[in-house]
Amino acid sequence: MSYIEVEYPKDKAAFYALLREQLALYLADETDRTARLANASAVIAQAFPDANWVGFYLVDGDTLAVGPFQGKPAVSRIGFGKGVCGTAWAQRRAQVVEEVSCFAGHIACDCNTHSEIVIPLWDGERIWGVLDMDSVLPGHFTDADRVGLEEAVRLL
Ligand code: SME
Repeated sequence: MSYIEVEYPKDKAAFYALLREQLALYLADETDRTARLANASAVIAQAFPDANWVGFYLVDGDTLAVGPFQGKPAVSRIGFGKGVCGTAWAQRRAQVVEEVSCFAGHIACDCNTHSEIVIPLWDGERIWGVLDMDSVLPGHFTDADRVGLEEAVRLL
């Protein structure tokens, strides 16, 4: 399937409706987890041009291991409760960080990053990974993004 450029609307409801549509398109008929997450990271990165890192960390025993992503090379393992990702896993809820330098224990992968959002991926009551997104813009991710992304990642 060749990628057709889409223009994401500013309106959040319309934006997330299109994001879910795009994800569904690229996830359709694909059962391999790596293939699904690789295209999901690419679809989400296209929707967030001001994100400098978009990807997944996946639960592997008592750590998160980096999964498919778009961006610069990143830390490969994050402990339970460590960094923003490990905090989302331990607290079992999304994290929206306006300024990463103010988040105690933040794990820096790119010194240009200012804001970050981490969304847990659920299988029933179990978290199997997180979606992690960084931006060079302070306060780039909002609570409306948390809501929109929590709904979008259910497709994964
Ligand atoms: N900042 C994350 C680490 C992963 S990178 O952002 C890609 C954290 O504190 O968990």
